[in-house]
Amino acid sequence: MRPKHRIGLLLTTAVLLLGLTGCQRADMSVLDPAGPVAKMQLSIIMLSVYIMSGIFVVAMGILLYVLIRYRSRRGQNQPPKQVEGNNVLEAIWTIIPVILLAILAVPTVTTAFALDAKPTGSNVLNVKVKASQFWWQFEYPDLGIVTAQELHIPTGTKVNLQLETTDVMHSFWVPRLAGKTDLIPGRTNTMWIQADQPGEFQGKCAEYCGPSHGVMDFLVVAEDPRQFQAWTDRMKHPQVQPAGDAAVEGEKLFAQNCASCHSVAGTNFKGALGPNLTGFADRIKVAGVLENTDENVRRWISDPAAVKPGTKMPKVPLNEQQISAVAAFLRDLK
Ligand code: CUA
Repeated sequence: MRPKHRIGLLLTTAVLLLGLTGCQRADMSVLDPAGPVAKMQLSIIMLSVYIMSGIFVVAMGILLYVLIRYRSRRGQNQPPKQVEGNNVLEAIWTIIPVILLAILAVPTVTTAFALDAKPTGSNVLNVKVKASQFWWQFEYPDLGIVTAQELHIPTGTKVNLQLETTDVMHSFWVPRLAGKTDLIPGRTNTMWIQADQPGEFQGKCAEYCGPSHGVMDFLVVAEDPRQFQAWTDRMKHPQVQPAGDAAVEGEKLFAQNCASCHSVAGTNFKGALGPNLTGFADRIKVAGVLENTDENVRRWISDPAAVKPGTKMPKVPLNEQQISAVAAFLRDLK
């Protein structure tokens, strides 16, 4: 291959790799931690980066020195003196890695144990996370609230997560708050997260789980404790009275076509197969991936599989005007 082509190939590979590693998503950067768990994990990552950088600089330095110092010189036609079985050298390159590994191992093990300990105390929130192809349910057993796709948490509070799956393996990942934890059939895994400041933190399923794995997104919405309290109040006593003719018609259509799978707190709709839709008007996203606009709600209802291939949500036999009515009803659920 000509050198020019080789450089081109290298650059293309580098760009592709950068794209694949997700470097373009600032909202999902592990390097920008927003809570104590992610900060502790980042400190371990940085420690190993510093150690590796040190090794790289020293090793490359020695290599350069040897290349220059012992390069072949004019008039030299014998190979240089060969070294074999040098005890001092062997001891050095055994002991140094042992020390480096110890420096890395001690904080790694202590952090792993610290993160594994289940937080206790009064300022702890418990949430049961249930993953299904291709959506997330969040249940607050102490508050009597069930929601989907958006996990609301108060800032400055440790949140215990109990992770379960109803079907295949998934993985809970909110890069700015904590590393991944798998959800494994027949098992309950645990982890905890905490957000220091209010904000929306992007979450993703990080274990291949089927055709819509790539769009099995969710959000962690961290709010200051007073706002979180207001949210829980709204979720416990939602406003479910449809306002306007379209919403009233939408409620009827919802009862006939949607309520066997979806619940809404404060109504007779108790379906448990699909996401709970209480407080839908408050949601930032529809189906976890589309902005919550009127148009997107209609788009989702009219052809769910076009947004999430493999979804269990069926295409309901409604015409355009009826879909608009259902959307109006949903967008009224405050
Ligand atoms: Cu769920 Cu990937």
